[in-house]
Amino acid sequence: MIETRRPAFIDGKPKQLLIDGQHVDALSGKTFQSFSASTGELVADLALAGAEDVDRAVRAARAAFEGPWSRFKPAERQAVLLRLADLVDAEFQDLALLDVIEMGRPITAAMGLRGMLQRSLRHFAGAATAIHGETLSNSFPVDLLSYTLKEPVGVVGAIIPWNGPLFSAAWKIGPVLATGCTIVLKPAEDASLSPLRFAELCLEAGVPPGVVNVVTGAGETGAALSAHPDVDKIAFTGSCETGQRIIAASAGSVKKVTMELGGKSPNIIFADADLDAATPAAAMGVFNNSGQVCAAGTRLFVERPVYEEMVQRIAAFAANLKIGPSLDPETVIGPLVSAKQFARVSSYLDLGPQEGARLVTGGHRVTGGALDQGHWVAPTIFADVTDEMRIAREEIFGPVSCILPFDSLDEVIGRANATRFGLAGGVWTRDIGKAMTAVKRIRAGSIWVNHYFAMDPSVPFGGYKMSGYGREGGAEHIDAYLQTKGVWIRT
Ligand code: NAI
Ligand code: MG
Repeated sequence: MIETRRPAFIDGKPKQLLIDGQHVDALSGKTFQSFSASTGELVADLALAGAEDVDRAVRAARAAFEGPWSRFKPAERQAVLLRLADLVDAEFQDLALLDVIEMGRPITAAMGLRGMLQRSLRHFAGAATAIHGETLSNSFPVDLLSYTLKEPVGVVGAIIPWNGPLFSAAWKIGPVLATGCTIVLKPAEDASLSPLRFAELCLEAGVPPGVVNVVTGAGETGAALSAHPDVDKIAFTGSCETGQRIIAASAGSVKKVTMELGGKSPNIIFADADLDAATPAAAMGVFNNSGQVCAAGTRLFVERPVYEEMVQRIAAFAANLKIGPSLDPETVIGPLVSAKQFARVSSYLDLGPQEGARLVTGGHRVTGGALDQGHWVAPTIFADVTDEMRIAREEIFGPVSCILPFDSLDEVIGRANATRFGLAGGVWTRDIGKAMTAVKRIRAGSIWVNHYFAMDPSVPFGGYKMSGYGREGGAEHIDAYLQTKGVWIRT
């Protein structure tokens, strides 16, 4: 049984900023409100951080970076991360419930993240003692030893979206702690609670004050952080448009920047594929988290001989997905995060038929009883979609799948790549040659063959093209929080 009591962190008290280990109000005294995506209830009043609060947090992060934290040995940072992993596990239900209540992720899906979160934090703990430079040969005329030192990049500004708040916070804070950086984290205005609580647990785990700071607020707070001259690196996850603004803002002080942006990922089903396996995976490759997933396989290409059969099978699967309140363990399709996101998704539901797509299932809001308090959209399938339709080109970020027919390998690869995005892709076939060709030729950062959505802290994830740069997961994730110093010693 999943316990669905209210987490202790939702206590009716205003949530303050976390700066230098202290809970503080915004200097302006301003606050904003966060409402439950599922029930519409007020979840919390939160401090609205202005530029002056961001500055305070950055100064705390700088002092911590130069202070006691810089003397923590790798094994000590590892011990802190392992304690954090234990604390997060002990409190996992409450942490996950914060996301369930605030941004509406269905409880069974939220609880399913426990293993991944543990693996991630323990992976980052392992990374802390595995950081190393290299000894390099050189051809300088006199004898000189040359080697590299890996050093933490400094103060990191992290800006995260609302679609996976707890996980995103962990994947930003984890590498910071592993490498000896410090962080000012700006959660999304629709999902601040689990990142705030996660940061408190960092303090409980023995992270010194000032190493992990959280400033809550909306875009303006993020803008102040991304323009702050004393932030060394920005790690961003979110929309492409906001990413571009952050890159521009970061130019003033030439910050290091990693960008984890959106996608319109192709998922390609060949006629020879295991269609029984492909059907649920193709559906959940879009409908998971109500489609609010950056790597969603929203352009579903199906080879012509099995096209209509697969349209019907996926539609039947989609129509059977249980739509319900986030706290109901049976629920698979929860609400969209906000009225704003609903308005955006609705505009595409209207657009599909206008552009000539065939609506096979869904296409509408779901209301009635508890569902009147939030914004549910029925899993939606548009068939006979063509490449130039906006529903096939733009990131919708809702439970909307576009199914497109194709006739050949070359054709489908060309069309799969005809997008400004390049985050992920899927291929379904029993032919290893076809699979390997697709793996090689699809221009995207993750490719899944006869599967969709696997992620692991050891495996890099990130974008080609306008889906961003830098990788999270794998060695590159840690490396993005380090810089390299070349050292020469006369011998
Ligand atoms: P967003 O990209 O604007 O928000 C992400 C984060 O950036 C939030 O913390 C937000 O407060 C912050 N932010 C906003 N403006 C900023 C600025 N000028 N400078 C610095 N930080 C700023 O995304 P939003 O508005 O929540 O959603 C709009 C659309 O973006 C969605 O419908 C979806 O298509 C896309 N999106 C994609 C995500 C992905 O992972 N691919 C995640 C979230 C949104
Ligand atoms: Mg909300």
